[in-house]
Amino acid sequence: MQLDFSKLPPREVYGWMTSVITPRPIAWVSTIAADGRTNLAPFSFFQGVTSNPPTLMFVPVNNRDGQPKDTVRNIQQVPEFVVNLVPYSLAGPMNATAATLPYGESEFAKFGIESTPSTKVRPPRVAAAPVAFECTLHQIVNIGEGPLAAHVVFGRIHLVHVSDAVLGPDGRIDPAKIDLIGRMSGELYCRTTERFALQRPA
Ligand SMILES: Cc1cc2nc3c(=O)[nH]c(=O)nc-3n(C[C@H](O)[C@H](O)[C@H](O)COP(=O)(O)O)c2cc1C
Repeated sequence: MQLDFSKLPPREVYGWMTSVITPRPIAWVSTIAADGRTNLAPFSFFQGVTSNPPTLMFVPVNNRDGQPKDTVRNIQQVPEFVVNLVPYSLAGPMNATAATLPYGESEFAKFGIESTPSTKVRPPRVAAAPVAFECTLHQIVNIGEGPLAAHVVFGRIHLVHVSDAVLGPDGRIDPAKIDLIGRMSGELYCRTTERFALQRPA
């Protein structure tokens, strides 16, 4: 089977991409508008980019009306955000925050998600997240126009919060304790409970 993406509508291309580019980590992104109202939403087009300088990226795409999501609108006003990571225990609350709320209504308040102030940036972070990256905006790269067009948000990481509860005796992350989830396609997710090791070639 071959697929010519240039001949398929963007929605269908999206379906194919998200069912084969798996599993994807989830950035649970908190932002704040100029008037101080907060926002929280998950994005699985998410990756680390480089450690020099510490940088990550995530990709809010335009909604069906071709308008940018609240996260993008907020970052355009206050160019700071927090990327919270999502363990299995927070899968439900994370999913709830994918609901489309009127602009300005906070998912923190609406879904009873406890926030805590960040140290270096204005948006608060998710109190229960095992890891939270405090970032300032490096650059937004726009790709495409209209519905599903992308705003690739690059963030410079300034501070990382790591819960002591997810550390092993060596002071490093214990993958079993952090228990992060990944997004598959549609309503499917995976856990990181089954792992294997491979020795890197010299
Ligand atoms: C696990 C998960 C991953 C998602 N990943 C993305 C993504 O990468 N890009 C995107 O635009 N929307 C993604 N969504 C949908 C957004 O979270 C949703 O549109 C949300 O309402 C956007 O919030 P905002 O308008 O408050 O920014 C995802 C939803 C879920 C549940």
